[in-house]
Amino acid sequence: MSGPGDIARRAAQAVAGFTSTRSKGPDAMFGGPDGPTHLVRAQAARIETADGQWLLDWTMALGAVALGYAHPRVQEAAARAVRDGAVGPLPHVLEVEVAERLCAVYPGAEQARFLKTGAEAVQAAVRIARVATRRERVVHAGYHGWLDGPTVGAGVPRGTERRWTAVPFDDIPALEAAVAGAEPPAAIVLEPVIERAPAMAWLEAARRLASESGAVLVFDEIKTAFRLAAGGAAQRYGVHPDLAVLGKALANGFPLAAVVGRADLMARVRETWISSTLATEFVALAAARAVLDVWSETDVAGHLARAGGLMRDALDGWAEPRPWTVCGVPEMWFLRFGDDARERRFLLDCARRGVLLKRGAYNFPSLAHDRPEVEETVRVIREALLEATP
Ligand SMILES: Cc1ncc(COP(=O)(O)O)c(C=O)c1O
Repeated sequence: MSGPGDIARRAAQAVAGFTSTRSKGPDAMFGGPDGPTHLVRAQAARIETADGQWLLDWTMALGAVALGYAHPRVQEAAARAVRDGAVGPLPHVLEVEVAERLCAVYPGAEQARFLKTGAEAVQAAVRIARVATRRERVVHAGYHGWLDGPTVGAGVPRGTERRWTAVPFDDIPALEAAVAGAEPPAAIVLEPVIERAPAMAWLEAARRLASESGAVLVFDEIKTAFRLAAGGAAQRYGVHPDLAVLGKALANGFPLAAVVGRADLMARVRETWISSTLATEFVALAAARAVLDVWSETDVAGHLARAGGLMRDALDGWAEPRPWTVCGVPEMWFLRFGDDARERRFLLDCARRGVLLKRGAYNFPSLAHDRPEVEETVRVIREALLEATP
């Protein structure tokens, strides 16, 4: 048995592409090798790496965790579900309860259907929209996972790209032009927040264009639901889609995603095939119920906005010359560097000093982040910058 020191070498040998979640690999984290590669434990806002270093983490499993790692309520609910068998030949009663509760929190939702990943949930929403409209083309803004369609390129059948028209975020003329294209769209699928809050006019235009063109408006709330609000951007901005996809923080890190929406549309699932063996395992459903309980008792959204705002303000107000621009919103913010080598050195320095920040993508505050974590991060960043100064 080899020790943790050579885990990176073993990963390079045994795991295709080093890790199964590409955004957690060394390139995605630090822009190349070096830096911690594996963890053994995650608790509250911290992780323990394979070589025993504890790091204060702002990446929060790519936003899959909003209550903090190993939140006691969630872990206890999941542990109980594990003891109860985890899976069985019939759906568990929790499927019904969590569906009812999601419909109660997500604006306009009347039914829910569960899946395991965000990409699958997007695929399911698009399939429902295609059945309902008898059309194929999708107009979309944002990232929606790795499946054919949202992703084009090597290994994706030629022609797929003709069915997916990408539009820039927050651009009404581009959205109008895309919807007016030769073939009317089945769905308009939008990430409602991309690097900044959307203009209300863009969300309203999407709502109007979908209704006028007969397309299904889908909000991809994989990152934003149970983060901006339990009911995501739809709740925060008051523009309601026909369908929405939820995931990530929905079960605080347990694998669960959902499509929610209008009952007449959701009923179309009977006309097509959307199903998977473990969609009804009930550990993740138990975790989601606990998440819903925590959200109903605690002002989670207020906390995330406050803690994220403190961090974002500290970085935004950092004395010049600062090597970054701060992007995003308080609940999901990131640093953009102009200089890759500088960014890489900075991130590695921060990690060495005990703080893990995401490279070129969102950092996510959680219930376990507060003023002390912000102060600790500011101190580490100051030291990292001082060290980098010649
Ligand atoms: C907005 C959005 N949609 C969909 C996905 C895909 O989710 P998953 O990685 O669970 O398939 C992601 C993942 O980052 C996402 O951010």
